[in-house]
Order: sequence, then C-alpha cells, then structure tokens
Amino acid sequence: MKIGVIGTGYVGMVTAVCLSDLGHDVIGTDIDKEKIDKASQGSCHIYEPGLEELLKKNLKNGTLSFSHALEDTIQASDVLFVCVNTPQREDGSADMCYVESTSRSIAENLNKYKLVVEKSTVPVQTSMWIKRTISLYKKGNGEFDVASNPEFLREGTAVSDFMHPDRVIIGVETKKAEEMLVKIYKKFKDKVLVTNIDTAELIKHASNSFLAMKISFINLISDLCERTDADVELVAKGMGLDPRIGKRFLRAGLGYGGSCFPKDVRALIKIGEDLGADLSLLKEVDRINTDRIQSFLGKIKKALWIVKDKKIAVLGLAFKPETDDTRNAPSINLIKELQSQEALLRLYDPKAMDNMRIHFPEDPPKIIYTQNLLDAVKEANALLIVTEWDEFKDLNLRKIKDMMANPILIDGRNVFDPDEVRSLGFEYYSIGRK
Ligand code: UDX
Ligand code: UDX
Repeated sequence: MKIGVIGTGYVGMVTAVCLSDLGHDVIGTDIDKEKIDKASQGSCHIYEPGLEELLKKNLKNGTLSFSHALEDTIQASDVLFVCVNTPQREDGSADMCYVESTSRSIAENLNKYKLVVEKSTVPVQTSMWIKRTISLYKKGNGEFDVASNPEFLREGTAVSDFMHPDRVIIGVETKKAEEMLVKIYKKFKDKVLVTNIDTAELIKHASNSFLAMKISFINLISDLCERTDADVELVAKGMGLDPRIGKRFLRAGLGYGGSCFPKDVRALIKIGEDLGADLSLLKEVDRINTDRIQSFLGKIKKALWIVKDKKIAVLGLAFKPETDDTRNAPSINLIKELQSQEALLRLYDPKAMDNMRIHFPEDPPKIIYTQNLLDAVKEANALLIVTEWDEFKDLNLRKIKDMMANPILIDGRNVFDPDEVRSLGFEYYSIGRK
C-alpha cells in the first residue's frame, strides 16, 4: 500500500514521518512549497521532539518522500490521509473549505480504488460530505471508501503519542476499509477500536471537549480556593487519587490554548446548535477558560496598581511547554491587554519567539524579545510565568531577585513553591493558592 498524506502541518508531518517509520511507503504533499522543500532536505518546519531525526532516517532509507504535486500524490496512493487544517470561523464552527477542495482534487484524480481517511478534526457527519463531494466531482472509474481515523497527538510529545497510542480509532463503513486501516496499524492491533464513521468523528470532539472541561473545572475550583484556605494543587491531587477522576488534566493555571481545545469546544457547541442538541455545558467551559486572563490581570493589577510604563518580564509564550506553537496561546490575549495598558514588555520563550513576532512585532521599548531569560528579568518591576517550561522551574531565584527592580513574581502555572519563593524575599502570587 502506498500512503499519501495531504497537508504536512503539525498533524500531517507527524503522521507521514511516523507511518513511514512503521515501515509504510509514504509520500507527503502540501500547498506550501517551502514546507515541502525543507522536508525533502530533512528539515522540519516545526519543533517537535524526535521528529526531525525520524524524518532524516526515513528519507534516507527511502520509505518517505515529499512532493509538490498533489495530483501525482493522489494518483500514486492507495490510501490518502487528509491532514489539511480546519480553522475556526467567526461563529465557532470549523471551516471545511480545505477538506472540500482536497476532496475535489481526490475526485478529479481517482484513477483507481482509494481509501480516503479523515485525520484532521472534523465535525460529525463530515464523511457524508466528503463522499458526496467525491461522487459529484469524480472523474475516472476508481472506487473509493471514506474512513475516519482521528489523531490524538499532543504537541511536544506527538511522536511518542503516535508510536505508543492509548487507542487507535478507526471509523469505517466497509470491511475493505477496515482491513486496510487495521493492516496499517497492525503494530498497535490491541489498541484498535473499530466504529462507524460518525462515532469515530465524535470520539475526537468529545475527548478534547471533556479534557477542556476538566481544565475549566479545576480553574473554577481554583477561584474558590483563592477565597478560602484551600490549596488547588492539593485539591487536584486529592481528587486525582480517585481513579474514576484521574490525576491528569487537573492543572489549574491560565487555561487551555493551542490549535485544538479552544477550537474543538466551540465547534462542538456549534454542531450541537445545528443538530438541535443542547450542549450549553460547553459554553461555560469556554467562558471559564476565556475569563482566566482577566483573573490573572487582576493579580497583576493587585501587585503593580498601575501597569503603564512598568517593565514586565513575560516568561513563556508557547501555548504549552516543549513546542514553538503559539496558536491560541493564553500569552496572546495577556500581551494584548498589557500592551493596551502601555506596559514595557520583555518577552522570552525558549522556542516560540519567532512565532510570537508574527502577532507582536518587536517595538522597543514597548515590546522587546530578549536573547535569554536573564535579559528579560533585568530591572523588571514584575515577572510573569505564563508557560511552565522546565528552564523556568530551574531558575536561580536568588540571582533573579537581585536583578529585578521589584521582586514581584506572578506565577500563572504554579511552578514554584509559595513558601520557598517568599522566603527568598519575593512577593508571590499564583493560582488557587495563598
Ligand atoms: C490540525 C488538524 O488538521 C486539525 O485536526 C486540528 O484540529 C488542528 O489543526 P495542523 O496540522 O495543526 O492541523 O494544521 P497546520 O499546521 O495548519 O497544517 C495544515 C497543513 O495543510 C498546512 O501545512 C497547509 O499548508 C496544508 N494545506 C492546507 C494543504 O496542503 N492544502 C490545503 O488545501 C490546505
Ligand atoms: C490536545 C489533546 O491532548 C490531543 O489529544 C489532541 O490530539 C490535540 O489537542 P495539545 O493541544 O497538543 O493536545 O496539548 P495538551 O497537552 O492537551 O494541552 C492543551 C492545553 O491545555 C495547553 O494550553 C495546556 O497548557 C493546557 N492544560 C493542560 C492545562 O491548562 N491544564 C492541564 O492540566 C493540562
């Protein structure tokens, strides 16, 4: 089986590289020529631990290649993984225009049987539209099946998530499609769950929305902790010891960001509205998450009173550690607010500064990206922790305190121990703890 991967963004690149590492013959294509040129040279346009090494390895052993030509890729492939983006529209729904245009291209190049696999996160019932589109625009005699195989990759651990999955969801309509996908994933055969396509599509949206709900729930509880003597870290620990609840995704902080949770929660709300199902629980999940920034600004105001002309070091710009991705990062709305209040911002992130410059170009003295962490904190009136990179956890706080104009530390990710930090002389604020 020759596998084509259409769209080599975060999801597509990991999918292409990892499928080839499983021994399959894979070709990746993308409308972005630069991404394909770089990938063909063994260089990855995203930072994802372990990915570039595997890319190089599989290019070299010949199981992986990249092509600018969508038509050739479609014609050469037996299985096509559709990994194009499904961006959020104004009304919260997912914009399916790239999935539609990709389906039309597949239709026009249907030279033999093809299995078309949705990998991008799509609204339930998308497969019906893909099938209709391919049938409407079909040229040639090729037959086809559509299947859903949602991705559950977390950025930062995507390669390991792919290679050690908790589950491989395969949504199919025909035995042939099932057999082909089971064969592709034979290494993970005891993790495979076969369902119909609507179910597979919904498993993805329901999973992400549930995890987002867990995060909003603990953030809600953190508000209560701040008004009492409770400590949200211990509340989460105590709750998590119950295996029915589980300890993961109960970290209170600045809320969830990234290319999936915010978008998927809103998309599911919209799907519910369109299909007449009441999913208003998810509207609260979204609202609680959005409110995190205002609540954090409240802490900044409490510490600084007036933000105007204060030097504020912002550590962490990526939406989470171990990635350079800034899509829907909480840092964006935070920086926008601080910018509107005329703060003098010193921004630092180990990997995401280039991506952040697209949102906020360098604009001294209002916005300065610093080469290293220490330059950001020098003479700062306050230090904000926005993403919990390990580099920040290991900070030499004694040194930092001496470098700052005012030793004020506002920790949006509960990285530090309050007693320890205060004993060094910092004024310390965190989330859901005294
Ligand atoms: C992901 C998944 O598609 C989606 O499931 C998830 O909800 C978030 O977005 P991701 O890989 O993170 O996509 O997006 P992106 O990095 O934007 O990659 C999409 C790629 O598809 C881009 O490289 C883009 O150039 C390419 N593309 C887009 C095509 O090749 N053809 C198109 O018609 C449109
Ligand atoms: C998520 C899903 O986990 C993955 O299965 C899906 O395929 C894509 O979306 P990702 O967006 O890469 O992955 O990151 P994830 O680790 O899930 O974190 C999402 C956001 O939630 C981050 O902003 C993170 O900081 C935040 N988060 C996570 C919390 O605020 N608290 C937590 O306890 C966990």
